[in-house]
Amino acid sequence: MRLVWATFALASSALAFYIPSISPQSFSPGERVPLYVNRVFSEHIPLPFAYYDLPHVCKPQTVQRPWLNIGEVLRGDRIASSDYQLVMGKNVSCQVLCTKQLTSEANKEAGHFVEQDYLVEWIVDKLPGATVYQRPGSSAAKRYDPGFRLGDYDAVKGISYLNNHVSLHILYESHGGEGNRRIVGFETYPRSVENGADVCPDLDNTEVQKLVVGEDKEITVTYSYSVRWIEDNTVRWTHRWDRYLPGSNQQVHWYAIFNSAIIILLLSGVVAVILMRMLNRDVSMLNEEDYREDVEETSGWKLLHGDVFRAPKYGGLLAPLLGTTVQVMYTFIATIALGTLGILSPSYRGGLLTTGIVMFMLMGIAAGYYSGHLYRTWGGGNWFKNALMTAIAVPMVLVAVELILNLFLWYRSSSAAMPFSTVFLMFVLWLFVELPLTVLGAWLGFRRPPYSEPMRTNAIPRPIPPLPAYLKPIPSILLAGSLPFAVIFIELFFVLKSIWQDAFYYEYGFTIIVGLILALTVCETTIIMVWLSLNSGQHNWWWRSFVYGASSSVYIFAYSVFFYFARLRAGMPGVAGFVPTLTFFVHSLLISAVYALCTGSMGFFAAYFFVRRIYSMVKLS
Ligand SMILES: *[C@@H]1O[C@H](CO)[C@@H](O)[C@H](O)[C@H]1NC(C)=O
Repeated sequence: MRLVWATFALASSALAFYIPSISPQSFSPGERVPLYVNRVFSEHIPLPFAYYDLPHVCKPQTVQRPWLNIGEVLRGDRIASSDYQLVMGKNVSCQVLCTKQLTSEANKEAGHFVEQDYLVEWIVDKLPGATVYQRPGSSAAKRYDPGFRLGDYDAVKGISYLNNHVSLHILYESHGGEGNRRIVGFETYPRSVENGADVCPDLDNTEVQKLVVGEDKEITVTYSYSVRWIEDNTVRWTHRWDRYLPGSNQQVHWYAIFNSAIIILLLSGVVAVILMRMLNRDVSMLNEEDYREDVEETSGWKLLHGDVFRAPKYGGLLAPLLGTTVQVMYTFIATIALGTLGILSPSYRGGLLTTGIVMFMLMGIAAGYYSGHLYRTWGGGNWFKNALMTAIAVPMVLVAVELILNLFLWYRSSSAAMPFSTVFLMFVLWLFVELPLTVLGAWLGFRRPPYSEPMRTNAIPRPIPPLPAYLKPIPSILLAGSLPFAVIFIELFFVLKSIWQDAFYYEYGFTIIVGLILALTVCETTIIMVWLSLNSGQHNWWWRSFVYGASSSVYIFAYSVFFYFARLRAGMPGVAGFVPTLTFFVHSLLISAVYALCTGSMGFFAAYFFVRRIYSMVKLS
């Protein structure tokens, strides 16, 4: 048992291992180190803003903006240069940045941001400025959470205090010699001090008044900062991200995996035994009954042999859906695989999203191929129409929904809104990469000989008997979805947290294991459900298997809603507002839909394999 655990632990650490994809930058004493401002975000409200869009902050005369990748733009990053003067090795006890006159509107708005728990993200040498967590008196390692608080809200008095002074502690290591310092930590300690005098506040005086914002009046705010350079040779540059990564949850992950693995083992055992017995009995009975008259009277799956392989209704839509989900799954696998290789470490900002988008475009070829092949199997004739349908159906729905949501985000001038250039870039990528690849794939898939089904289809379809109660849509979906959801809901919490609360998620190893267990569960439950419905005479199993496979998405959406109220909104004063709520629900719906497509097609392919298998057994015997 020890050995097993040790092996597991080793495997997980190997899977979670990452290689920083950016080469280190060295600074010599006296060299200027730029500080970039990025965005403000809240763990309670999915509505980030560019730092310079805040009405109460100081903006330099000329702002330089580095180039951002698609992933960064989509997650709301808006990196821009600042006037903070950081010189390697030079401590600054206090320096005024600027003094700003706030109109009463700006003052009130600053109060709102503070109230909604907004955090500020600044960047030095690609590291986000962090709030440090260390249990007082404990010798445990420091932990970093990206961002520092814009201000503090006193819920009892209903007063917002704005942080207008920040102490920047920059940690460096100098293993490579004095002139070769590398930044390994960026800590931010914000503070609120009443000050509008354009001089440095008295920082040693602990009695000093805090700066109140949010009132309906004009005020003057002086922003200041101090800088400390601290040599820290305990951390190497290659491990500087470790402090940002939550490492203490490993046990929870393992517990989740262990639990679901046991569920799966039991489930598989039961399924295997039952199916084997039933199949054996049915097949041998069929052989004996070959000459008997009462064959037609015994109900069961074997009577449907002339109907199960009749091409599905709306096969022209089912094939593109299945093709697209193969594309999504390949994208997922490829992205995760790259993640375990370290390309998606948090040091590569926006890497996950960018890689995912590029992979999705490239995997268009798989979508076309599978769609084309199934389309041909179901007797479709116009392969080009099928190719277009595959390239357009799902992406267009997703994009249309996103663009409508984007209008609202634009209106609120949130940095989560896609700029026009990004929309255009995505369209160009789709037009010149995904579309041609999908057409090529569809052509290849269509040229392949169709699947040969083990049974010939009767000319006249059998009448379908009414559904038994437990196979009616709602009970059957709730039933089929419960087990897959039980398998993933612990891991789902971490995924939702990383999506909505900007937690770094790097445990791709766990994602793979849970994903595999999930796939297995979905396949098994779908097979059981399809088996049950075949036995009750429902030979229209194609769409049915897709729906059974996708059924746990209902639970995923419900869990997202629960997460919204229990995690995001919990402890939040005031209302979130229409746009953030809409953003959350639209995105949850899209995530659940994509999940439904993936698990639906897993269920479909498992059921297809199963149905072909059992009917070829009948044929043989
Ligand atoms: C700057 O401040 C840090 C922390 O207080 C100290 O360790 C360091 O020696 C100081 N550097 C200089 C050049 O004074």
